[in-house]
Amino acid sequence: MTGPARRWAVLPAAGRGERFGAATPKQYLKVHGRAVLSWSMGALLAERSICGIVVAVAAGDRRFARLPEARDARVVSCIGGARRELSVAHALERLACAARDSDLVLVHDAARPCLHRDDLRRLFERAGRDPAGGLLAVPVGDTLKRGVQGNRVGDTVPREDLWRALTPQLFRYGLLRRALMLCLTHGRAVTDEASAVEALGLRPLLVAGRTDNIKVTEPQDLRLAAAVLGGRR
Ligand code: CTP
Ligand code: MG
Repeated sequence: MTGPARRWAVLPAAGRGERFGAATPKQYLKVHGRAVLSWSMGALLAERSICGIVVAVAAGDRRFARLPEARDARVVSCIGGARRELSVAHALERLACAARDSDLVLVHDAARPCLHRDDLRRLFERAGRDPAGGLLAVPVGDTLKRGVQGNRVGDTVPREDLWRALTPQLFRYGLLRRALMLCLTHGRAVTDEASAVEALGLRPLLVAGRTDNIKVTEPQDLRLAAAVLGGRR
């Protein structure tokens, strides 16, 4: 008996937010009175079809347990790693007893508080049936320049066919775990989960997402997130 694929989620939340430069890691900064991580967890918890969420937090983190969402029965935490991909790998390990290889696992940056329900549903609908999985992404809208000699324009890079990869990204549990392990073992750079799956020779599906699913990286992004989330109320 195998039964239908279940849906799990992993949230890497063990970063230090160095580019943001605040004393508090950016995932714990408040937007409209609620931590960035609460917003991103809340977006996943609202999707009832997700049966469990693993949040990877930094060793010694005392803030996570104080978030209201941390008390949800579907939420557990694990200790993250020194790099994002290690945090994701630890969270996947945490699921090893519960998840089957054929189950779906979604990976979402804790630092993306503006995930919209429609994007999440579309990703499940489209990438959930694709053996290679898929990710939310946005076609590049700006003209692209390659910089040389410091800040001089070397050339203009054609932007056709170029996308910006966002999260969530959705894959079969067994496939993602194997892909990540292989990259970690071979010391290959993994900037997102899709790049690990690509290294296996697969072609994950690009699912067009909303441009307001921003990642809080620098202080101005927190103000943007506040505007996006305030506008949805
Ligand atoms: N992350 C993680 N473990 C790490 C590094 C990052 O779980 N060792 C998480 C972050 O908490 C964030 C997501 O991965 O939710 C995306 O990473 P990024 O935006 O780079 O966050 P930080 O690494 O915290 O920021 P910075 O690179 O500026 O230090
Ligand atoms: Mg980082």
